[in-house]
Amino acid sequence: MGEAARIGIVTVSDRASAGVYADEGGPAIRDYFARALASPWQAVARLVPDDRRLIAETLVDLAEREGCCLIVTTGGTGPAPRDVTPEATEDVIAKPMPGFGELMRQVSLAKVPTAILSRQTAGIRGRTLIVNLPGRPRAIAECLDAVMPAIPYCIDLIE
Ligand code: MTE
Repeated sequence: MGEAARIGIVTVSDRASAGVYADEGGPAIRDYFARALASPWQAVARLVPDDRRLIAETLVDLAEREGCCLIVTTGGTGPAPRDVTPEATEDVIAKPMPGFGELMRQVSLAKVPTAILSRQTAGIRGRTLIVNLPGRPRAIAECLDAVMPAIPYCIDLIE
């Protein structure tokens, strides 16, 4: 992933962004990459409410102004009315990468039957890969373990 790759970490949660509870997803993603990545990297973390326009603007900002090669979101992938992270992701990507969501759901289903409720997706905007993860901190490692092998190669291909 090159020298000090910048990785956007976006927690999408009405309650965490309002301070009702602490954001556990963002730190869980940061910890995951700290363990998984051998090369230098830098986190660019954001915490936003479940608002389609705000999420989309955050993704564009991380991709274009912050120069992130990878953006990982957590939360807002379920069926509830306020869950709009996949829609916001689709708003800003040029190329969907459906294999990421398919594989993460498949792997997650072996752990929890409710994994079918996650509409998590992924796609490419310019030179940035955007990947949605569910909100539960436990889901973060379960899903990233499945797709991590393909992520550096995907980033190489879009550079
Ligand atoms: N995937 C994994 N690996 N582990 C989980 O615990 N929880 C599921 C699902 N995917 C889960 C998972 C549940 S209960 C829901 S409602 C959906 O993800 C959507 O979660 P989100 O709305 O927080 O993104």
